[in-house]
Amino acid sequence: MEKFRIRGGNPLKGRVTISGAKNSALPCMTAAILTPETITLHNIPYVRDIITMRRLLEDIGAHVLTPELRTHKISAANIELMAAPYELVKTMRASVLALGPLLARFGKARVSLPGGCAIGARPIDLHLAGLTKMGAEVFLETGDVVARAPADGLRGAEINFEKVSVTGTENLMMAATLARGQTIIHNAAREPEVRDLAELLNKMGARVRGAGTPTIQIDGVEALGGAQHTIIPDRIETGTFIVAAAITKGELEIKDCNPEHCNRVIGKLRDVGVEIEEINQSTLYVRSGPRGLHAGELSTEAYPQFPTDMQAQYMTLMTQANGRSIITETIFENRFMHASELQRMGARIQVSHDQAIVDGPGKLIGARVQASDLRASASLVLAGLVAEGETIIDRVYHIDRGYEKIETKLKAVGADIERVRESVTAPLSSTHDDAAAA
Ligand code: EPZ
Repeated sequence: MEKFRIRGGNPLKGRVTISGAKNSALPCMTAAILTPETITLHNIPYVRDIITMRRLLEDIGAHVLTPELRTHKISAANIELMAAPYELVKTMRASVLALGPLLARFGKARVSLPGGCAIGARPIDLHLAGLTKMGAEVFLETGDVVARAPADGLRGAEINFEKVSVTGTENLMMAATLARGQTIIHNAAREPEVRDLAELLNKMGARVRGAGTPTIQIDGVEALGGAQHTIIPDRIETGTFIVAAAITKGELEIKDCNPEHCNRVIGKLRDVGVEIEEINQSTLYVRSGPRGLHAGELSTEAYPQFPTDMQAQYMTLMTQANGRSIITETIFENRFMHASELQRMGARIQVSHDQAIVDGPGKLIGARVQASDLRASASLVLAGLVAEGETIIDRVYHIDRGYEKIETKLKAVGADIERVRESVTAPLSSTHDDAAAA
């Protein structure tokens, strides 16, 4: 297994370029199932989850060409298998996004019920309740969700999400594009990735209105066609590099980002003393403020509030801030796994239920630490960049799921980081298949 070896203390200086958003690319790739014509997606990030999603599409019979590394041409003209198998869903929960499109186009689908993962139980009851309201018969069979549409197809319905669900909103929005009649989704997720998917669906001939607001209206159509689409920048990668500049007391120009999608993150980081300048609609300039960092208070919420996917990175930053910070995680029930690893590096963090108290500033000392999920991994890399001495991060396949070559981008702006393979003499670490997908 591969690891990162980081020697801390270098201030980052220079320019980083942000990749496309993994959490937009994934639903946009499954949207290709809705039509026999070709969908061309640009600015797809080169990350593991995309490779997994490509495998899923090819396993069910779609053809995927990549004329360039970050361009995917997907044709689902000859889908033979309406199923997403366990071994794929286990490694990537987003495989569940195949459910709505398969059901809408073919009237049937079988998707392995995703188990929990490191950050929580991650049920999909809201996805299934919505599909049932649209007329689908949904039942469990040997660990798979089996769904069947009525003979004359899904029908439009009024759906109220009792909880905001990003992929739940995306799954039902896709299913509704080919349903008979109108679907209205209340308490819909408002993430930029939901808006990006709606834009692609409308290019394909769908009639989706209100994406990005709590109420989305979809008028079903007979069929959808091909389209071209460029994926939005990754707002979580953007936030991660803002923290990297601040925590190393460096200066970074962040290119090809979308500051508008990061408003709340930019606001909360400015509140604790990070200097962030919006140069233009796709560029930020970040440096640590002259008065250093001071403690902050944060509660993760659904978009447009502060995203749970930036909570771990914020926690690492607060270990270097003056004073006591309070962080409340309201989205996932077990998303403080990084805290214990940060404590092993000397961070003063107390976790109780959904709240973490961080006292700073405290010197971090390099150590051998272990990543547990995608964003926790990023928080450990950030800690390594500022820690005294050497930090070894195990299980970097987690971070490869959602960050394109993060060590290459960091090294290019002065970080002392390298990817190393497990030496054959090193004690074998436990198998990594307990790393269920986040
Ligand atoms: C999406 O996951 C993202 N993944 C996650 O990013 C992100 O952390 C999450 O949204 C929250 O923003 C993708 O977009 C591929 P949810 P998702 O459904 O859709 C509960 C990353 O790091 N819930 O919005 O699975 C759920 O348990 C990943 O890139 C139900 O109870 O999250 C959670 O508490 C990690 N029943 C809350 O809702 C359901 O049917 C929000 O989950 C669905 C969700």
